[in-house]
Amino acid sequence: MLSKVLKSRSIRSSTQKLMRYKTTLSLSSTTTSYPTQHTTAQDEPYFTPSFIDNKFVKSDSTEWFDIHDPATNNVVSKVPQSTDAELEEAIASAHKAFPSWRDTSIIKRQGVAFKFAALLRENMDRIASVIVLEQGKTFVDAQGDVTRGLQVAEAACNITNDLKAESLEVSTDMETKMVREPLGVVASICPFNFPAMVPLWSLPLILVTGNTAVIKPSERVPGAAMIICELAAQAGVPPGVINIVHGKHATVNKLIEDPRIKALTFVGGDKAGKYIYEKGSALGKRVQANLGAKNHLVVLPDAPKQQFINALNGAAFGAAGQRCMAISVLVTVGKTREWIEDVAKDASKLITGSGFDKSSDLGPLINPESLTKAESIIEDSVKAGANLVLDGRGFRPDDAKFAKGNFLAPTILTGIKPGMRAYDEEIFAPVLSVVNVDTIDEAIELINNNPYGNGVSLFTQSGAYAQYFTKRIDVGQVGINVPIPVPLPMFSFTGSRGSFLGDLNFYGKAGITFLTKPKTITAAWKVQSIADDEILKPSTSMPIQQ
Ligand SMILES: *[C@@H]1O[C@H](CO)[C@@H](O)[C@H](O)[C@H]1NC(C)=O
Repeated sequence: MLSKVLKSRSIRSSTQKLMRYKTTLSLSSTTTSYPTQHTTAQDEPYFTPSFIDNKFVKSDSTEWFDIHDPATNNVVSKVPQSTDAELEEAIASAHKAFPSWRDTSIIKRQGVAFKFAALLRENMDRIASVIVLEQGKTFVDAQGDVTRGLQVAEAACNITNDLKAESLEVSTDMETKMVREPLGVVASICPFNFPAMVPLWSLPLILVTGNTAVIKPSERVPGAAMIICELAAQAGVPPGVINIVHGKHATVNKLIEDPRIKALTFVGGDKAGKYIYEKGSALGKRVQANLGAKNHLVVLPDAPKQQFINALNGAAFGAAGQRCMAISVLVTVGKTREWIEDVAKDASKLITGSGFDKSSDLGPLINPESLTKAESIIEDSVKAGANLVLDGRGFRPDDAKFAKGNFLAPTILTGIKPGMRAYDEEIFAPVLSVVNVDTIDEAIELINNNPYGNGVSLFTQSGAYAQYFTKRIDVGQVGINVPIPVPLPMFSFTGSRGSFLGDLNFYGKAGITFLTKPKTITAAWKVQSIADDEILKPSTSMPIQQ
């Protein structure tokens, strides 16, 4: 009987483990109730829980990090360094949930993905408001942060097409089929600058491909990821399929080293990314790591001036320059160097202030250290010969409650050359460095000599120059009259060279390939005749299946 060859499914009683006493909590916001203004210094901070088995669990940790509102530096919440026991629980939970999630039909997983995307849309303003409070960016920009993640969640609903097997009758009565199977537990280590988008770059695809996840949000901005997980559970993601842990190095090291984790996806700084890539790869794991960037915008004299200025200022100063696709270097070709005065005039009109204030164009930097670093780079570059044509240092919004915020207003340095700190380092602040060149070839050479390769943009009316530039530039994401050319999720985020480690980029087809491994099944089904049986004998030569 067929049933005899299938393993008995009866549950054997396992040795009872002593359960840790767990307090479950709820999130500080709901779909209809969320922060719309800054807290005061007297407000009690919220203790961010972990998310394990679809429950928000209070951490037993004795080590907690303060999360400051970057506009006021009041402590708005606290996040734990997850204990060893908690890290173990989260990984064990994802590991245990994997077989049944993998075996859940694709149509059911797609159904969950549809609900998840709908819930994200419904909770957009709630997630955005928590981002404003913890990260500092403006509310409209925070909505954009959620939207770019939501788009990945929506694209993931097409998994029933994306995961179709390939098959071919390779020989008479013999067929080979190639399927793609999930890997197991995938760890996602996220940065502070896109608290919703980056977790959502991978999470929806992790889910629909049948993997399970352990996510470590940035310890500076965990709030958005917590809401995202609550919504995933509401959408029908079973307990254990997604878990959240918190913390710094100890957490990252555990995620890299634990053999149950099969792949690591990382977005963040160079040092951490290189460490995770090298250690993870050495242990045989798949790793994709998006690192730092220095994105140039090249302007040719035939570009429509005002359109260029608007695009540049938005891309250089939006999100306070804290985007890995922000424009941090302007390369003026020929007489466009004379346009800087107008660029600076418009940049000086941008309003720096609270993310909750509708009139703000940019918010504060993430923490005082980032501000001090940006200020020191500006100072050193001026000492090295740069001109400060717009100085945003020392800026404070009028309201006294922002006296301690990490504000830096738009700043422009001209006369920048490689070798100066403002050119050589990723500043991650609203600081634009201007380099003058005489020809498009000089611009291309400058950019191709920069170690990073995330994004680049060219402003011109000439199709011929656009084509010339596109073919010669060695950068993964090129914009022609588009300042921030981040592809939508039907493509992938294709940063290259020093901005990316790994072979398979985030989301799109590459993202699905990253999260799955191929398996081929070759089967022969032939109706045998008696005559065939008589001539059958073993063949010891390599089968060539003709
Ligand atoms: C869905 O996936 C298939 C296969 O990858 C692709 O050809 C199609 O364009 C996708 N549809 C949408 C709406 O993205």
